[in-house]
Amino acid sequence: MSDQARKILVTSALPYANGSIHMGHMVEYLQTDIWVRFQKLRGHKCTYVCASDAHGTPIMLKARELGISPEELTQKISAEFIRDFADFGVDFDNYHTTHSMENEALTIQMFEALRTSDDIYTKTIEQSYDEKEGMFLPDRFVRGTCPRCKSEDQYGDSCEVCGATYSPSDLIDPVSVISGTPPVKRESEHYFFRLSEYGGRIRAWMKKARLDKNVLAKLEEWFEAGLQDWDISRDAPYFGFRIPGTEDKYFYVWLDAPVGYLASFMNLCERRDDLDFEDYWNADSDAEVYHFIGKDIMYFHTLFWPAVLDGAGFRTPTSVFAHGFLTVNGQKMSKSRGTFIKARTYLDNLDPTYLRYYYAAKLGPTIEDIDLNLEDFVARVNSDLVGKLVNIASRCAGFINKRFDGKLAAALPDQALFDTLANASESIAEHYEKREYSKAMRQIMTLADQANRYIDEMKPWQMIKDEARQDEVQAVCTQGINLFRSLMIYLSPVIPALADKAREFLGDETWRWHDARTPLLGTGIKAFKPLLTRVDADKVENMVEQSRETNVAQAPQNDFISIDDFMKVDLRIARIEKAEPVEGADKLLALTLNVGDSNRQVFAGIKAAYAPETLVGRHVVVVANLAPRKMRFGVSEGMVLAAGPGGEDIFLLSPDEGAEAGMRVK
Ligand code: MSP
Ligand code: ZN
Repeated sequence: MSDQARKILVTSALPYANGSIHMGHMVEYLQTDIWVRFQKLRGHKCTYVCASDAHGTPIMLKARELGISPEELTQKISAEFIRDFADFGVDFDNYHTTHSMENEALTIQMFEALRTSDDIYTKTIEQSYDEKEGMFLPDRFVRGTCPRCKSEDQYGDSCEVCGATYSPSDLIDPVSVISGTPPVKRESEHYFFRLSEYGGRIRAWMKKARLDKNVLAKLEEWFEAGLQDWDISRDAPYFGFRIPGTEDKYFYVWLDAPVGYLASFMNLCERRDDLDFEDYWNADSDAEVYHFIGKDIMYFHTLFWPAVLDGAGFRTPTSVFAHGFLTVNGQKMSKSRGTFIKARTYLDNLDPTYLRYYYAAKLGPTIEDIDLNLEDFVARVNSDLVGKLVNIASRCAGFINKRFDGKLAAALPDQALFDTLANASESIAEHYEKREYSKAMRQIMTLADQANRYIDEMKPWQMIKDEARQDEVQAVCTQGINLFRSLMIYLSPVIPALADKAREFLGDETWRWHDARTPLLGTGIKAFKPLLTRVDADKVENMVEQSRETNVAQAPQNDFISIDDFMKVDLRIARIEKAEPVEGADKLLALTLNVGDSNRQVFAGIKAAYAPETLVGRHVVVVANLAPRKMRFGVSEGMVLAAGPGGEDIFLLSPDEGAEAGMRVK
């Protein structure tokens, strides 16, 4: 790599301004922020821009539902995003919105350029239309029965049960999600971009762009399927930019969204004398441009986007870096499990430094998914950051502070060890550059182990007892503190807040990557304050509890039963006539229940919670029409309703006084 300062423009995908930032999003913004901070630390001119993605049908409808304008909605949500990102230490040079003047001007400029080069044409197509709402329906806004497996209430483009893909017109009994009425077919003229003509140019770009092999494999798949022209317009009502020369046609959100990268940069250039828009976006620009994205939006960034840029006379991205999806505890994030964790919920409970380090320790350059395992998270952060890293400083600083008036020794006792760390600099840098963060973290922690071993061997806490070895203690601790400093410099892109504290404690004004080559000698350090506390597992649990949604309304649609299903359940009041332990079963009681017309036997796993003699004469609720089940101890002819987590905490549902055996519960 050349030592010359590079001009680099970096982006993260623009988050939709209709929800909250969650742990999944944070993978991307932290991955990008680490890379940008690394480039800046290396002395390159690196600029990081982002924006809220403000347009499209979901945002329009959400605003309508809340009774506010889409502008208001997206402004409010953007303000939340900005706070979340700032509190996680994501340091954008600019955060803008796609609903901006710059974006409208640039989108229209590109559209006009493409129209001039005959890359745009219009065609009439047929689509689902909601007559009641007076609007065309995106596929996702039509639901109905899957034509293949007959599962009810599936999306208009694909079935979540059998995985079939189809168009909304194939659905059986389709309805509009917005009005609940059946959609009709209606024709409308749309604008298309001739992507089919761009195969050669996209291939040429692919060759230059040094894409990850998984990304290339995806592109090959798409090429094989054939490049289809792209529908870039939507009919009113729509929240977006109106297409010039039309009354009621808008640019599709995915056309103007990536243009938002340029718009945000342009907006920044307006206030920064040292940045020139043309210099970065001219077709022959020598600046580097990188887009960090999730694997779900590769199609837009590796096919449409380079084609649109190329066609409109702009430079294309130097590369596109795609990452995988986040799972929590090995599974998709889930509201009912409490693993759909919002950025704000995390911040309310835990230090962002922990998550920044944990993600870095897990991230590589591929589209492989990454797992946030909460137990491993606690163990890993405590062992690496607290146990290894911060420990080095806390073992040495006390002696320097108390015995040597806060002054470091004038020379290092083990230059070779210091050089070992200094010489690792280029290899660690290469890992960062290639987004091999997990490798970088592993290498840094191996060096931290070496530093700790050095202190273990020197045992300054023993030396200090020997009057004749005081100078040696100062030297050993100076060595330890300098090793700590080098490690902190290497880690500063990942854990900037902690690195800042460490830097201030050491009395350094600023850090550059190469500062790890020169030790601090003979200078004063400040009083040592604990830099980082251990992750408290209770806080992690608390965060999960706060994220858990038990509200039935939040359950996925597929989990609902119909009223007819419910009506099938015969719930009755029963009087417990007899209750006895079951031989060979330590949790069960055998209950004889009077359900009005007859007695029946039911086995219930409530022995830990109820002594048999306390139950006789009580009324309970039973499912009376449950198919009899043969158990090891006999046949069970129903089910008693109870609540609670189990064991001793089981609570029989007790009907009010006046309930009599045999009454129906409904
Ligand atoms: N608005 C579009 C991007 C337009 S870019 C011109 C969008 N927004 S998003 O809010 O849905 O996602 C923003 C980024 O977060 C995307 O890169 C997406 O891949 C990423 N992630 C969203 N959920 C994620 C996980 N669960 N895991 C990892 N990344 C995820 O897409
Ligand atoms: Zn199906």
